[in-house]
Amino acid sequence: MADLEKLFDNNRKWASRKLAEDPTFFQELAAQQAPQYLWIGCSDSRVPANQILGLAPGEVFVHRNVANLAHNSDMNFLSVLQYAVEVLKVEHVIVCGHYGCGGVRAASDNRSLGLIDNWLRNIKDTYTRHREELEQLDGEARADRLCELNVLAQVHRVCHTTIVQNAWAAGRALSVHGLIYSLKDGLLHDLALQVNRQDQLEEIYRMDMAIGS
Ligand code: CO
Repeated sequence: MADLEKLFDNNRKWASRKLAEDPTFFQELAAQQAPQYLWIGCSDSRVPANQILGLAPGEVFVHRNVANLAHNSDMNFLSVLQYAVEVLKVEHVIVCGHYGCGGVRAASDNRSLGLIDNWLRNIKDTYTRHREELEQLDGEARADRLCELNVLAQVHRVCHTTIVQNAWAAGRALSVHGLIYSLKDGLLHDLALQVNRQDQLEEIYRMDMAIGS
């Protein structure tokens, strides 16, 4: 594994640095995790959740995919969300996009990239819904705005899941937030969308969870 030797070397140094700072660090983490946040972000290598948030291992539960999408039939996303909300009992779900997102850019034109076109297709729906606003902007401003609108759409999609609606129906405090990260300065921006009650959703999405129980 000569190709990965540098990584193993980094890892050994990191582990011993952690131990030097706190001799019980790994022992305590191995016993339990109690993160307060679920992060749903882009797979982009420049947007690592823990580092951006300044959080240590154990402090944020992370799900990443191309263009930070919350597809309502994606078992991976749904399983992460369910485990985070129902088992880990996180109180904050953060959907974080980033400006300059390649996935969002790819969905903004007509080029086909293969299978991933299907994954990114919902971004075109968001574009269509906001076409008037988007087409008044040009170039980078339009791309940036679509990155923001994509985050806002995913916040709603997270809220439309049975998982979040069940948590609210049970009286749990659970907030879903929309954030965006700038690659240019390393700063996070709040998109001022925080959903923590069913009546913040369009009426058709407000499921009566009592019916199914
Ligand atoms: Co991206």
